[in-house]
Amino acid sequence: MILVFLGPPGAGKGTQAKILEDRFGYRQISTGDMLRKHRADKTALGLEAQSYMDAGKLVPDDLVIRMVEAELANADNIIVDGFPRTIPQADAFDAVLARKGLDAVAVIFDVDYNVLAERITGRWSNPRTGRVYHAKFNPPKQAGIDDEDGGPLVQRPDDAADVVTKRLVEYDEKTTPLIAHYEKRGDFVHVNGLGEIDDVTRAIIAKLPDVGKPIVSTS
Ligand code: AP5
Repeated sequence: MILVFLGPPGAGKGTQAKILEDRFGYRQISTGDMLRKHRADKTALGLEAQSYMDAGKLVPDDLVIRMVEAELANADNIIVDGFPRTIPQADAFDAVLARKGLDAVAVIFDVDYNVLAERITGRWSNPRTGRVYHAKFNPPKQAGIDDEDGGPLVQRPDDAADVVTKRLVEYDEKTTPLIAHYEKRGDFVHVNGLGEIDDVTRAIIAKLPDVGKPIVSTS
């Protein structure tokens, strides 16, 4: 199964993708994590992307599509988190899936924007793995340290309040049209993203029971 996680910044997409990866064997493809890695590695793509990210803007479609295409070579049992984010990205993604005879289901996280600021300002993440914590809602055992690999946790520069406001404007303008795109095709579920983290996982599995079945590797 291919899941497309759609929702505003702080909706819980990354959190839920990691849970489904750990429990059931999905592979998370997060364009945000990929771009942050390019930045950390100072690649040409990372250097080009950084001014957009720091301004809370979306990175241009051609850069993102080029970056993600290689990852989609092995496209089954993936969760795409943060992609597609514009109609041109969705068209490019649909074309890749059509070539492979695969379909995607969109999981649309419904959240009240009022909760997002507290979630985002309390977020701490491991830049190496993309695993996320929250100072209040999902704290690590030891502050600043990842439970899994002992790596340092950091706060993202684009989580500053003024940048988050701009990211929400970008989401409203460029990404919300994708909700209609997937609803029109019938391949979607809405999930209440407002409960506790475990409740949201349960809600996803209740809507898509096959998601809760461990993936059996055929290779
Ligand atoms: P990206 O990294 O994708 O950020 P985002 O989509 O804005 O989403 P976030 O990572 O902020 O939120 P999330 O929904 O994953 O929430 P999380 O699980 O962490 O993109 C960053 C930038 O990269 C973009 O602005 C853009 O510039 C660029 N970019 C990326 N993809 C692109 C693309 N396709 N095209 C163009 N540009 C692109 O949760 C947030 C916090 O809340 C955490 O602390 C978590 O512990 C906590 N939390 C989660 N769930 C709950 C819950 N149920 N209850 C309480 N707390 C919770």
